[in-house]
Amino acid sequence: MSQFQEAAATLEKELGNAPSTAVVLGSGLGSVFEGAAHTGTVHFDQVPHFPSVTVAGQRGVLSSVDVGGVAVCVVEGRLHRYEGRSLAEVVFPVRALALWGVKRFVLTNAAGAIKADFQPGDLMVARDHLNLLGENPLIGPNLDQLGPRFPDMSRPYCRTLIDLAYRSAAELNIRICEGVYAAVPGPSYETPAEVRMLRALGADAVGMSTVPEVIALNHMRRPVLAVSCITNMAAGMISAQLDHRDVIAVGKRGSEKMQQLIGKIVEFIEH
Ligand code: HPA
Repeated sequence: MSQFQEAAATLEKELGNAPSTAVVLGSGLGSVFEGAAHTGTVHFDQVPHFPSVTVAGQRGVLSSVDVGGVAVCVVEGRLHRYEGRSLAEVVFPVRALALWGVKRFVLTNAAGAIKADFQPGDLMVARDHLNLLGENPLIGPNLDQLGPRFPDMSRPYCRTLIDLAYRSAAELNIRICEGVYAAVPGPSYETPAEVRMLRALGADAVGMSTVPEVIALNHMRRPVLAVSCITNMAAGMISAQLDHRDVIAVGKRGSEKMQQLIGKIVEFIEH
């Protein structure tokens, strides 16, 4: 607990009062808000107990960004289980941000389409998820100051935020879809048989992140919206093989739409 408090105190010192909304950027989505006015920046290694960041295409930076007159905290440097991190490390930044005072979280990621109607470049809002990581970030002694031992997960994604995403997309003329996100450990992509299994389980998209943070934030009763950039059809759905560079490249191309969508959502929330 004291580690989260020390981290939160450093964020307060470096960046001032917590903005109401934080946006966590996924792989390939680092350029979201790149062009927006940054009013403060702190590197993960300046914040006590924050994990360091290793995956290619990610840097560990927290920024205060002015999005249409509203301050938003943008987190670049998501941690993944496949890097050998414990899930406690993976969720450390969002827990510290929530303790700092951030009220709601928009989590973004790159994901493969399981549903045949989806196309690379689409944005999918998560309605629900499947935690197939075989682990849970809340395993271990419960931190009662953060939340209950057995948190409810019957509404893991905030319906109000999902509705705002639809309103924002309509206003921007952006196509968004909704679905169930399956989190797998990675780092190998799925086999075609695994993709068929995920579809049979009810997944619409698959990725290697987000769900640990969603669980930790539900534990702390913080509303969450998750937006996936569909970067590829999952293995076996088309003849092409999967290449991480393509995933990053499509994510980059989806960044602009993602930025517009999140910008509009933030505008709706605050006004
Ligand atoms: N599978 C798992 N994770 C992913 C994928 C995928 O196809 N695309 C982007 N992240």
